[in-house]
Amino acid sequence: MTILSELHQDHVNLSKLLVILRLKAQALREGSEPNFALIADVMDYITNYADGFHHPREDELNKYFMGRSDELDSQLKCCSEEHVALKIATEELKEAIDGVLHDTVRPMGEISDLLDEFISQQLSHLNTEEGMLFPLIESQATDNDWAIVNTLLPRQDDPLFGTKQAEKYTELYRELIIDMNNK
Ligand SMILES: [Fe+2]
Ligand SMILES: [Fe+2]
Repeated sequence: MTILSELHQDHVNLSKLLVILRLKAQALREGSEPNFALIADVMDYITNYADGFHHPREDELNKYFMGRSDELDSQLKCCSEEHVALKIATEELKEAIDGVLHDTVRPMGEISDLLDEFISQQLSHLNTEEGMLFPLIESQATDNDWAIVNTLLPRQDDPLFGTKQAEKYTELYRELIIDMNNK
């Protein structure tokens, strides 16, 4: 599997979690109480895997392809800046969800707004990478580049979508299976 297809697979997986978050935000807006512990699991996974591994890998990739053209440079720079903003957004939402779990009083409308904002920020980032940045990188990269990048980028098992699921994500994994079977 090439690096770009690994990153693409992460995007597919992350999109599935964003669908779950969207359903939870909807439930919240309709006045029912979603499973906040499950939302916390999603946020924990995003903190660990997306912010802690997927984005740093992309940052390495971005660094490697810097300096080839102005157009590519500006997209690479923008992408890595978005990673910083996404990390802040994850922390903010994670804190808000932890607050709900620990009985901090906060209007539920605020939580659903935060969820909506987070989902659109993540989706817009994924779409930019998939629709603009990755195709541009692909058009400029050689086989030799991929061979080098392959040795530069760190590897790690995906604790939710990988071959071995981490025990802490058991419930979330089950929810994903139910969700997939419903479609
Ligand atoms: Fe990214
Ligand atoms: Fe990405």
